Amino acid sequence: MSETAKLILDGREYELPVVTGTMGEKAVDISALRANTGYITLDDGYGNTGSCESKVTFIDGEKGILRYRGYPIEDLAKNSSFIETAYLVIFGKLCTQQERDDFADLLTQNAPLHQSMLKHFDGYGSNGQPMAILSAMVNSLTAYDPQVMHPEDENDLFYAAASLMSKVRTIAAASYKTTIGEPIVYPRKDLKYVENFLHMMFSSPYHDYEPTPEVVRALNMFFVLHADHEQNCSTSTVRMVASSKANMFASASAGISALWGRLHGGANVAVIEMLQKIHDEGLDPAVFMDEVKDKASGRKLMGFGHRVYKNFDPRATILKEAAFDMLEKMHIEDPLLDVALKLEEVALEDDYFVERKLYPNVDFYSGIILRAVGIPLDMFTVMFAIGRMPGWIANWKEVHEDPKARIYRPRQVYQGDLDQIWVPRSERS
Ligand code: ACO
Repeated sequence: MSETAKLILDGREYELPVVTGTMGEKAVDISALRANTGYITLDDGYGNTGSCESKVTFIDGEKGILRYRGYPIEDLAKNSSFIETAYLVIFGKLCTQQERDDFADLLTQNAPLHQSMLKHFDGYGSNGQPMAILSAMVNSLTAYDPQVMHPEDENDLFYAAASLMSKVRTIAAASYKTTIGEPIVYPRKDLKYVENFLHMMFSSPYHDYEPTPEVVRALNMFFVLHADHEQNCSTSTVRMVASSKANMFASASAGISALWGRLHGGANVAVIEMLQKIHDEGLDPAVFMDEVKDKASGRKLMGFGHRVYKNFDPRATILKEAAFDMLEKMHIEDPLLDVALKLEEVALEDDYFVERKLYPNVDFYSGIILRAVGIPLDMFTVMFAIGRMPGWIANWKEVHEDPKARIYRPRQVYQGDLDQIWVPRSERS
């Protein structure tokens, strides 16, 4: 007999079905609650709400487990390129050599932007925010390739996903070039995904950039670690927009905007700003922590804490080790790494952080790697967006392909004024 939960409301008992996930996690299905009882549930910030059933990513926040399509993040970070990971996340299986080649061909074919689209970049000033440009440009792509708006079969979807994956990288690099006042660099046919991105970022008409293997490996891993993270703020936004039948590009553009905030993807910028301030002003990490713990300061230890992880974020563990390895191989001494290590040490022994189960998240060490690659600070969240694109596409695809999908439309508990009587302006006090 299937499991049910009992709910008593106004003296009446209701049975609610219990849904069990493939990893054993349980959810009380309340989809018929309002129809049967007149009540809704209230869950400010959705901390207890499963908004969907999904097959893309599994997280066990208590045990610090993260898997894409069942594959542990540790294995993928070690063995898989970003493009193979993207294929896995989007299409649900490890690609064969043929599938890998077909996907890579489409990525190469889709790397350049429409010539007219390049003119948009001229309209942005040199102080333009790359995240603003990225979000606007990803949305604009459909104006130049309407074919991607309504994918009708697997082939159309394959094309649209490859186009978005490829073009987001070209746009990101072009937005950087725009903000530093250099000419946009065209993609090259002979380069792989990460190498091509680095070429468009750092080559110029008078200089060909040649990345080291360490840089390519580190960036591949950075993107792999960011590829998906189930129903976080930006991915939920993508699904929300997708549920209205908006196209993949418009939905991803909304995801980019959601990612921008400092409590989400923007935290990777905030972490470096915080470490830099502590370093430049010679602040004692322990004293800085006192400020963080004082709620009145409004300050947080950026790169710490997570809605789901109540144990180490496995991505932070991998990134910390990779940061050490990379700096050593590249003979770089980054003083901010020392500040980060000291902060972590203090936090892990402090009751405030221990009791609240606050550990380093993905953003705490990722900035050290991006700095070593040479990525400027205002491009950090753009890098996150490139990495997260497979997850957004996979979640968009799940909504798009679900025959039972309904438009997402949460309810609310109204706490505003009661019936008001309209008063002409001349009579208002
Ligand atoms: N520094 C200090 N205190 C913190 C921090 C932090 N980084 N994170 C949480 N807390 C405190 C809260 O103030 C709260 O204290 P209280 O119980 O005394 O009220 C307690 O820990 C529980 O935290 P919540 O607010 O319930 O955590 P929530 O799940 O709402 O927020 C979030 C998670 C946004 C990630 C939060 O931990 C935070 O702001 N961290 C810093 C920003 C950051 O690193 N964001 C990146 C997250 S990963 C990502 O999105 C890619």
